[in-house]
Amino acid sequence: MTLSLSQTVPKFRAACERVRRDGQRLGLVPTMGALHAGHRSLIEEARRRADQVFVTIFVNPTQFGPTEDLEAYPRDLEGDLTRCSEAGVAHVFAPAVSEMYPEDECTRVRVVGLTQHLCGASRPGHFEGVATIVVKLFAIVGECVAVFGRKDYQQLKVVERLTRDLNLPVEVVGHSTVRDEDGLALSSRNAHLSSEERDAARAIPLALSRAVRQFRSGERGVGALVRPVTQQLAGAGLRIDYVSVADPERLTPFDDDAATSDTALLAVAAKVGDTRLIDNVVLGEDPPPIADA
Ligand code: PAJ
Repeated sequence: MTLSLSQTVPKFRAACERVRRDGQRLGLVPTMGALHAGHRSLIEEARRRADQVFVTIFVNPTQFGPTEDLEAYPRDLEGDLTRCSEAGVAHVFAPAVSEMYPEDECTRVRVVGLTQHLCGASRPGHFEGVATIVVKLFAIVGECVAVFGRKDYQQLKVVERLTRDLNLPVEVVGHSTVRDEDGLALSSRNAHLSSEERDAARAIPLALSRAVRQFRSGERGVGALVRPVTQQLAGAGLRIDYVSVADPERLTPFDDDAATSDTALLAVAAKVGDTRLIDNVVLGEDPPPIADA
């Protein structure tokens, strides 16, 4: 199958409508490009659930804060098109910023509650930008199955909720985190890490793996789960934004002196040099990121 490309909303919408008119199921994988094996795994998941897979590539300016890395965000459309073609993607939508945000646009989508803690607390406006672009994309695409990574767990929950609340005709599917051999979650931002920073970053999957083991051995104390993670990250020289144990659906953090439920989200965000990395496991559900840690 040859890959086709559109850059305008009407062309993309027409391509989506053609799939359904042919009686086929459409799979959607929204991305910001710089595609890696994590994205590829989402594409494969979408291929299992749909007849044709469409990928969107758009570095969405509204989800970057004023001090964040919008300009430095890696961009490689040519390489991405090759990767999409190799992965069996049928169509790529790669619009310009002015196509998604025409000069006179003035609508934003805000998901309350779920965005109050974790990354929502440290990145004001981020999830409003994510929710807005995802609703715009879903409004163009229409009925489809859309695959999102659990690597960005809070984002997945926000997308699930807005889809339900706005009655959008989209089935949202979460896909497990793809990791490098050493356990580090794949991210387009890993490209910014020096080799020393890359080594230091390994503390994240190591600490999460130990927490999974602790949880499996019966530990339910929030403080007792959080403290070793904090120590391990700080010990490796990472600057911690948060280490939180939270309700896996509502995303409200448990107090330090509380006990967790039978499943609990353990989420971390930390800076290695200038690069902000996030990762998580759902305790009671996910395996340890490093099998033998
Ligand atoms: P981006 O960071 O490009 O990620 C696109 C999708 O790939 C997201 O659903 C993300 O969770 C998933 N992903 C990234 N790394 C992954 C990994 N290691 N394993 C599994 N899935 C992974 O997330 C965004 O773009 C944007 O916020 C977007 C949803 C496209 C809205 O602009």
